[in-house]
Amino acid sequence: MSARIIEGTRIGREIRAEVAAEVERLRGEEGVVPGLAVILVGNDPASEVYVRSKTRACAEAGMNDRLLHLDADVSADELFGVIDGLNADPAVHGILVQLPLPPHIDPKSVLERVSPAKDVDGFHPLNVGRAFVGDPAGFLPATPAGVMELLRREGVPTHGRHAVVVGRSLIVSKPLASLLLAPGPNATVTLCHRHTADLASHTRLADILVVAVGKPGLITREMVKPGAVVLDVGTTRVPDPAHPRGYVIRGDVDFEAVREVASAISPVPGGVGPMTIAMLLRNTAEAARRAAARARRRAGSAA
Ligand code: GUN
Repeated sequence: MSARIIEGTRIGREIRAEVAAEVERLRGEEGVVPGLAVILVGNDPASEVYVRSKTRACAEAGMNDRLLHLDADVSADELFGVIDGLNADPAVHGILVQLPLPPHIDPKSVLERVSPAKDVDGFHPLNVGRAFVGDPAGFLPATPAGVMELLRREGVPTHGRHAVVVGRSLIVSKPLASLLLAPGPNATVTLCHRHTADLASHTRLADILVVAVGKPGLITREMVKPGAVVLDVGTTRVPDPAHPRGYVIRGDVDFEAVREVASAISPVPGGVGPMTIAMLLRNTAEAARRAAARARRRAGSAA
């Protein structure tokens, strides 16, 4: 058997086209152009690449994008000042602080500084809590939302199925576990991590296996149940002198071997990655729609 390839690039493009149509509607009907501000601190090469693809995708969807590139030695107070300015700016609907931050800045205090109404990353504790309790007033973090959207659009049944998530990050695995578990998807969820004894004994039980660890080749063919759906969230730069860039991007799954046993599998690159950007754009358009609705309500109550 050779698995169906889950084409995140194509599905991400479809979502971006839907977002572009919503941006057009907001511009025409509400007179609002969604705006995303991205803050990058320092010169981490991978972060620079991510940030550029986010701002480019924003522009392609018809949104305003603003990149604020701060020096690696910026003080926490200066960074707070930049965030406060963006919180107060009505042309900015979404704010994203690219992680990781330099070690002298506490990421928790930075994420808490972003207005929850503009937190399109879904990293503010209020939005983390809203995601946990299933409150749609928040913003879901882009990567787990992208995984759920891939499952929906690929018609992968989740109801009563066993989903095994490998990894326990706050950005991906924990919110993904609560999304899979929620009424609607109704999956049974197992979360595994670096201290899990006999990882393979868990992954082999998965109808849906999601891996978000950052260890290339962690998941081998023997660890996957025949017919499982496998989603690979890992993206690690692996040196490759034969490649013009000097490196290639690898996922956590031994793709060539696992595709022989899985029923469907997402590749790296071109799987979950493009969904992350698509969902970020969707959150930004939604933040602008909510801001316009709030402005309308305020104007109505002032009249
Ligand atoms: N660094 C790696 N992934 C992400 C993400 O989704 N959002 C932010 N802000 N930083 C990241």
